[in-house]
Amino acid sequence: MDKKSQLTDGREIVIRNLHLDDLDESVGFFRALPEEDRAYLRVDVTDRDIVAQRIQAMDTGRIRRLVAEIDGTIVADGSLEVENRGWKDHIAELRLIVARPLQSLGLGKHLARELYLLAAEMKVEQIVVKFMRPQKRAQSIFKKLGFHQDAVFEDYVKDIHGDKHDLIVMRCDLNELWEKLGNFMEDSDWVRTR
Ligand SMILES: CC(C)(COP(=O)(O)OP(=O)(O)OC[C@H]1O[C@@H](n2cnc3c(N)ncnc32)[C@H](O)[C@@H]1OP(=O)(O)O)[C@@H](O)C(=O)NCCC(=O)NCCS
Repeated sequence: MDKKSQLTDGREIVIRNLHLDDLDESVGFFRALPEEDRAYLRVDVTDRDIVAQRIQAMDTGRIRRLVAEIDGTIVADGSLEVENRGWKDHIAELRLIVARPLQSLGLGKHLARELYLLAAEMKVEQIVVKFMRPQKRAQSIFKKLGFHQDAVFEDYVKDIHGDKHDLIVMRCDLNELWEKLGNFMEDSDWVRTR
């Protein structure tokens, strides 16, 4: 499902599924992230074994992972994880993280859009995303894609400096999303390559 597009600085990106043999590349990507950005992830992604488990967990079919590459180097990672079986199995949590030097160039937006398409493929009914209030870019991306702010947990999470921030939870009903996505993609140069 490789897809290519351009960042706002003209560089070409390819978005594709993460594969088992991406382990070294993936570990390299996570180790290069500043600690502040890694804090958004639930596990210690600098640990090679944990990254390996993370990739292998895709076998369950309940987690899908995408990466974005520039010239063969991973520069962003995104995931869609369906919650535990049972009462929440129609809900998926979306996470994404972009390498610092590539932030604010439209990459997060491209990856988020691909994760939505995956959510539809997985027949997910609702997507949830969580982030700290200062993360304005995340807020901007998800608002534009039809997410609504669902809850705010005041002073709920701490950043790496120990400062507390509100945790924002946004949710999207996929049926509602399709209407918005149509408009969002009209002004895009998105090209499916395979
Ligand atoms: C959040 C994150 C994924 C966004 O990716 P990105 O590639 O930097 O974002 P984009 O370049 O696609 O920008 C997205 C939007 O934010 C806007 N934006 C950029 N900088 C901004 C700022 N300082 N304040 C407000 N909005 C800003 C952009 O204009 C764009 O909106 P637009 O489409 O209306 O122009 C990335 O910054 C990141 O990895 N952060 C750390 C991890 C994280 O917070 N993940 C989110 C939780 S899932």
